[in-house]
Formats: sequence, structure tokens, C-alpha cells
Amino acid sequence: MPVDTRPIGVFDSGIGGLTVLRQLVAMFPDERFVYLGDTARVPYGNKSADTVQRYSRECADFLLEHNVKLIVIACNTASALAIDNVRSFTDVPIIGMIEPAARHAVQASKTGNIGVIGTRATISSNAYEVAIRQVVTSSQSNAGRPWKVPTLVSRPCPLFVPLVEEGWTDTEATRMIAEVYLKPLLSQHIDTLVLGCTHYPLIAPLIQSIAPGVTLIDCGHAAAQAAADVLGQPTTRMTEPSASAIREHVSFYLTDYTPSFQMIAKDFLGVAVEEPARTILRDLQVPSQR
Ligand code: DGL
Repeated sequence: MPVDTRPIGVFDSGIGGLTVLRQLVAMFPDERFVYLGDTARVPYGNKSADTVQRYSRECADFLLEHNVKLIVIACNTASALAIDNVRSFTDVPIIGMIEPAARHAVQASKTGNIGVIGTRATISSNAYEVAIRQVVTSSQSNAGRPWKVPTLVSRPCPLFVPLVEEGWTDTEATRMIAEVYLKPLLSQHIDTLVLGCTHYPLIAPLIQSIAPGVTLIDCGHAAAQAAADVLGQPTTRMTEPSASAIREHVSFYLTDYTPSFQMIAKDFLGVAVEEPARTILRDLQVPSQR
């Protein structure tokens, strides 16, 4: 049992963060979690920074009301656009997707040719580029790497999110789209690719088959390791979280409940969520319809 029994808060624009939750529960099977998916306002990936910051703050507020000891922003878009904003109004530690994945990418790359894919908002924020350059600069002297300056190539892949949500993780159509998206990155001879969106782990096998030999960075896995550092506790790394740990230790909250949630959640989490998710919370505002 953890010494500090307060739960870990996790939020995402919707269900993509379940791939991160999966990694967290596998890493900390004795911890309790509160997961909030802002399903009423998903996607964040094509919204403005102002809007993503407002939504992220509301999600973080909700988790803070649940007395969480740590917040994991399990959404690359929210991490890219809103982590500083969220950090500015709480002392609770905040882990995003970008910094941990940037560290893993720098450690993994042998050539310094690193690719990043994500939503339009994540890629146009340049958050990964900034984070990767910061990691390289801060660890330059002792890294012993054969390269000094990273060559970064990034690309938004907006079609991946709806394809994954449709369950088209291994179809010919998805493969063709992935080949088009990845071509400019592979032509730059990347040896490492950051999957900079929480939906992408579901198509990691397909991406790997198009990019054999390229090391794929799973931001959820990187974030779970960062959480272990912040919590300062020994980790129990299991390949998959146990179904009982998910059912007994995770409270799910969604801002909208759709019948497809349980089906999609099983794909993302690897375990069926049997308890119906509790819907709607506080006063999260759904944008007014015109
Ligand atoms: N979860 C988001 C991310 O990781 C993708 C979905 C969205 O656009 O909200 O960027």
C-alpha cells in the first residue's frame, strides 16, 4: 500500500488518456486513480490554445477537488498548450506527456534524427521541439551521445484519432494513410519516433511495420516512469494492468457518456470497464451550439 493514500488524478480530452492510465495502473497497481475524460468537448487537437487552457484548468480543478496528490495530463495537446498554465495555479505536481517522452526520445536515439507525430495543435505548438532541445542542452556534457544537435522532423496526423476511435487500427485504409504521413519522416532517416498523441499506441504495431527499426516512444510509458520519480516509490512494472486493479482502484468520470464508451474503453485500456462510467460533473461548460 502507498504511504500517501490520496489518489492520482488523470485527465484527457476524452478516451485517449486511457492508454496512459493503462501504463500507470500497470506501474502502480496499489494506487487509487481518478480519471476524467472531457468527452463532451473532445477533440482538443484542433482547438485554440486559449480554449485548451480553459478546459484543462477546469479538468485539473475537478481532480484537485478529489484531493489528488499528483495530476497526469494524459493528453499531448493539453500538455503542449496548457501545462504551464495548470502548474501556475496549484502546488500539486503535474506531469504532462511532452517532457517525459522528450527525455525517452533523446535517450533512445543513436543518430539524433528524431520524428514527432501528433495532433495539429501539438505539432504547431513546437512543444516537443522545445522539450527535446532542452533535454539535449541540459544533459550535453555527460550524455556520451554520438550526436550533439538533434535533427527534428514533425508532422500532424489528424486522421489517426478518428481512425483509432473507429477501431480501424489494422486496416488497409489506415495503413495507406500512415504510409503517406510517415513518408517525409522516414525520408529524413529518423531512428526514433515519438507517438505524440495518446491515441497512437493503438496503431503502434501498424506504424512499426511501416517503420521497422525505428524506436517508437510511447508517451504514456514515459509519463508512468516520471510519475514513479515524483512519487519516489518503488514501482511494480507489469506488462498489463490487472482487471481487478482497474475495477477496484479507478473512478471514471466523463463529461458526456456515449454508448460506445465501454467498447472503445476496452480497446484503449485492454480491460473491460464493467461499472458504468459516472457522467457529468460539476459545471463544465459545453460550448454553446449556434
Ligand atoms: N488525446 C489527444 C492528444 O493526445 C488527442 C485527441 C484530441 O484531439 O483531443 O493529443
